[in-house]
Amino acid sequence: LSAGDKSNVKAVFGKIGGQADEYGADALERMFATYPQTKTYFPHFDLGKGSAQVKAHGKKVAAALVEAANNVDDLAGALSKLSDLHAQKLRVDPVNFKLLGQCFLVVVATRNPSLLTPEVHASLDKFLCAVGTVLTAKYR
Ligand code: HEM
Repeated sequence: LSAGDKSNVKAVFGKIGGQADEYGADALERMFATYPQTKTYFPHFDLGKGSAQVKAHGKKVAAALVEAANNVDDLAGALSKLSDLHAQKLRVDPVNFKLLGQCFLVVVATRNPSLLTPEVHASLDKFLCAVGTVLTAKYR
């Protein structure tokens, strides 16, 4: 990510602010609806509309993204534990990170259209790809 990308990403999360939890939950809801194969990783979750479990999980995902945005110069360090979890324990297939990333972008676009200029869209896409790369870097 260039310096411009980094400042765009920080600006996005600054604007989203306290609503990040809802963005996370919406992104998950879209991922499960649009790409039902992603539901296979959550057999223990209630995935129905308005599920409290999905909301709670959205909050965790959003918090991780905020943490990553705040540590954009050291994504590998900031996401190290989550990388162990996703790659070594959960073994989530890497394709799924692109799906969640796309859904997150759509949530930003629908909730805050003016924010997502083409430049910001490109920066946020790069950031979400970089997060996915870190979270899938430890397969063995
Ligand atoms: C758990 C973040 C992508 C499947 C988690 C947790 C966080 C997180 C913060 C909770 C860890 C904890 O409780 O200590 C992220 C981020 C992602 C991402 C930032 C990408 C932007 C994915 C994808 C899948 C997935 C694409 C599969 C489709 C899971 C599962 C759990 C989990 C199954 C455990 C849920 C539970 O039992 O509570 N993730 N995740 N994650 N993640 Fe992800």
